[in-house]
Amino acid sequence: MKHIWLDCDPGHDDAMALILACHHPESRLIGVTTVAGNQSVEKTTRNARAVLAAIGCGQIPVFKGQSSAILKAMPFCAEIHGESGLDGRDGKPLFPLLADEEPDGFWLLNWKETLDKVWKETGEKVDLVAIGSLTNVALLLTLFPEVKSRIRITIMGGAMGIGNTGPVAEFNIENDPEAAHVVFESGVELAMVPLEVTHTALATPEILAAIGDSSPFRRKIQEMLLFFRDTYRDVFGFDDPPLHDPLAVLFVLHPDWFQSRKMRVDIERASELSRGQTVCDVHGRSSRLANCNVALSVDVDRFWKSMLDAVAKADGVIQEK
Ligand code: BDR
Ligand code: CA
Repeated sequence: MKHIWLDCDPGHDDAMALILACHHPESRLIGVTTVAGNQSVEKTTRNARAVLAAIGCGQIPVFKGQSSAILKAMPFCAEIHGESGLDGRDGKPLFPLLADEEPDGFWLLNWKETLDKVWKETGEKVDLVAIGSLTNVALLLTLFPEVKSRIRITIMGGAMGIGNTGPVAEFNIENDPEAAHVVFESGVELAMVPLEVTHTALATPEILAAIGDSSPFRRKIQEMLLFFRDTYRDVFGFDDPPLHDPLAVLFVLHPDWFQSRKMRVDIERASELSRGQTVCDVHGRSSRLANCNVALSVDVDRFWKSMLDAVAKADGVIQEK
């Protein structure tokens, strides 16, 4: 059993990552932090709470994190995720929104204390899975360096070659390269699932058919992926949308389903052309020590089997209620 903390900016693929983290038999999701990215942090927080409530996991704590990057304002991503961050094709939010709720105390301290508690109870490192920009994670490591020995970090982000928001930069890293630099320099055990891998996990018509429309929840998931398909067609010319974020959850649960290689990864922060690039020393040409285990490929069929099983489990839980 893996104890997972998800740092996210829901988002359509983040919502699928929440489903996998909540309903995979080897995963125990202990909490969620939200960050701005796909939409404002107010919206990503509302979406995280709405998705968790909709999949029968409304008791999982959600802490609202940073509203912007460490140094610069962050652009949001309505062109891919809509105005709410989690729109359906009718332009309305897919999941019923709950009233905003502010937990007591300072979110960063609450987060650190929850991680400490789990570490003390289980004696095992918590897997922190970061599927948005790395702003929250960089602050955690900077303010509470003692957590470094108590966590592992797996991120969805970066690219070895072609980017998606810049020619060579990927959205989550480009949104806050300074934060990414802090994380990649931190010395924490780190893994990265880049675009080269997530672009192989496509929600094809066969996958949509397997999800089916036999219940309101399954229809909602279909609608979510159809919205994502349309925006990916319009913006990137993809036939089918890539399901980035659940791959980072899967890497924690089944690292053996991936090929990966430890290498040096540095974050470009100065260049006008390539700010936010994850510079991956694939062939070890520099003398710099490896700092990241980079996923190179994934067994896509096994990924989809796990994802569809999690959707089925969520559907069953909802129907029992
Ligand atoms: C990443 O950007 C976001 O829009 C997605 O949720 C994913 O985390 C892909 O580049
Ligand atoms: Ca995301």
